[in-house]
Amino acid sequence: MSKVKIFKPVEEKKRAAAAAPETDAAAFHAVVDSRRSVRVYADDPVPEDVMEACLDAALKAPNSSNLQTWEMHHVVDPDKRAALVEACLSQPAAGTAQELVVFVGRPDLWRRNNRWMLEAFDAAGNVPEGAYQYYRKITPLVYDQGTFGWRTPFKWVLTRWRGRSKPYPREPIGKWGMRIWAHKSTALACAHFMLAMRAHGYDTCPMEGLDSARVKRILGLPKAALVTMVISCGKRAEGGVYGKRLRFDRAHFVHRH
Ligand SMILES: Cc1cc2nc3c(=O)[nH]c(=O)nc-3n(C[C@H](O)[C@H](O)[C@H](O)COP(=O)(O)O)c2cc1C
Repeated sequence: MSKVKIFKPVEEKKRAAAAAPETDAAAFHAVVDSRRSVRVYADDPVPEDVMEACLDAALKAPNSSNLQTWEMHHVVDPDKRAALVEACLSQPAAGTAQELVVFVGRPDLWRRNNRWMLEAFDAAGNVPEGAYQYYRKITPLVYDQGTFGWRTPFKWVLTRWRGRSKPYPREPIGKWGMRIWAHKSTALACAHFMLAMRAHGYDTCPMEGLDSARVKRILGLPKAALVTMVISCGKRAEGGVYGKRLRFDRAHFVHRH
């Protein structure tokens, strides 16, 4: 690892890029402020193009090493949908929804996606050697936990040993570490999706009150797949938002160091 240098110190002064796209902070905050978890939806359908646009927005979420170890399963088949509502414990946020999307983490697919990345580099041409090195040397070191996780104890000892005297990346370690790793990026895709839905004037509810084994069975997913959340979609019905938004005092959570 020490031979592979991926980060060079930035020495020269940097100026802001003139070509950054224009943004609208007020519009963004209006979307954030008006997003609420909706438990009862109206009968208005969500247009297919809105669903597609929001799924595209989900796919643009930041994600670890850009390995995109996520899947979005938009469940449209009526029988599967009914089974999915049941697997979501028949909660009203699922039962009254117009659309249901299952967000799934796929830590088991990191190697396939790593290969896709190298193929994409080959196809693009002119990709810096450092980027190739990252996906040839670094990602296998960080994400390969070995068959049945045999590398896990060695990684654990190595990270603690190397990390004594200098900064060393410690996670993910082991199968559970890989699960957390995939859930993180998939959860960001969920946030992108929900905010995009709100920007289009629709509502959502993220759900983890569900039977993940049953959800996976309905979708024909393998054991290694992780159900991060099911997100229901529609337009909020009268009384579909339970109470005012409640957040604790920000002083508990926001710290300056
Ligand atoms: C990971 C996660 C799981 C959740 N699971 C459920 C759920 O199963 N059912 C439900 O009604 N709401 C669920 N929620 C919604 C939360 O209860 C809601 O986000 C929280 O009360 C804050 O309200 P707000 O989203 O309107 O700001 C979940 C939210 C998250 C992020």
